[in-house]
Amino acid sequence: MGLLSGKQILVTGVLTESSIAFHVARLAQREGAAVVVTGYGRLGLVERIAARLPQPAPVLELDVTDSAHLDSLADRIRPHADRLDGVLHSIGFAPRTALGGDFLTTPWEDVATAVQVSTYSLKALAMAAAPLMEDGGSIVGLDFDASVAWPGYDWMGVAKAGLESCSRYLAGYLGPRGIRVNLVCAGPLRTIAAKGIPGFGDFESTWKSRAPLGWDSSDPEPVARTCLALMSGWLPSTTGEIVHADGGLHAIGG
Ligand SMILES: NC(=O)c1ccc[n+]([C@@H]2O[C@H](COP(=O)([O-])OP(=O)(O)OC[C@H]3O[C@@H](n4cnc5c(N)ncnc54)[C@H](O)[C@@H]3O)[C@@H](O)[C@H]2O)c1
Repeated sequence: MGLLSGKQILVTGVLTESSIAFHVARLAQREGAAVVVTGYGRLGLVERIAARLPQPAPVLELDVTDSAHLDSLADRIRPHADRLDGVLHSIGFAPRTALGGDFLTTPWEDVATAVQVSTYSLKALAMAAAPLMEDGGSIVGLDFDASVAWPGYDWMGVAKAGLESCSRYLAGYLGPRGIRVNLVCAGPLRTIAAKGIPGFGDFESTWKSRAPLGWDSSDPEPVARTCLALMSGWLPSTTGEIVHADGGLHAIGG
């Protein structure tokens, strides 16, 4: 029996083999789940990447800023899955002006894009998936520690602070439906999203020198495993929580 035996999971955010979402999908299949993948924009690429999963997985298009995509999502999933037990939100984006030291001059339109794609989308995705979660389930999002300001992370940091709050409100509103909402707060991982963050190398050095358990920014598996744990039946009373998968760095001052 796998950890997710018999479960049906929706995985957003697969872009390349380095995507955190790819590893969640891979491990979820290995642990017995049926997986439906969504991709944004470059669907041909996402389909090629999904073909590298242990088992075939349907790929559906989802731009979280497109209300037609969101409104039709449940109906498009139904031919592949009659319900969802788990949903992974692994989505983030901020325009270049919102990162890398231009914090004081970033125009509102770019801040709005970062917040819509990276923060509001957790609620949008939850509501799009809700018709398939009538028996409850687990929604998991990906966080980067927003309790402090990180050099250059700028408006993405503000968006992540909003994501942390959004997940708590969702936990409150969806708890009575048996839906848990939690975040995994990850250390730095070399992905396409990470490449867009100026000064990402400094995060890697910080983690390398200070994380008590050590940290390998080319290994997404510890983060993916933590997502799976939250989607399993083994944390049934946990919601509105931020679980750190960061080698323990968040606990250490200095
Ligand atoms: N890589 C890290 O160091 C790190 C650390 C902590 C948290 N995270 C978070 O993990 C999540 C996944 O990022 P990743 O590092 O795997 O990088 P990634 O680039 O592989 O994934 C980001 C995903 O967001 C998707 N996306 C962007 N705009 C979208 C839209 N409008 N609609 C739907 N999808 C959209 C992209 O297609 C991509 O699949 C993000 O929320 C990111 O902030 C990453």
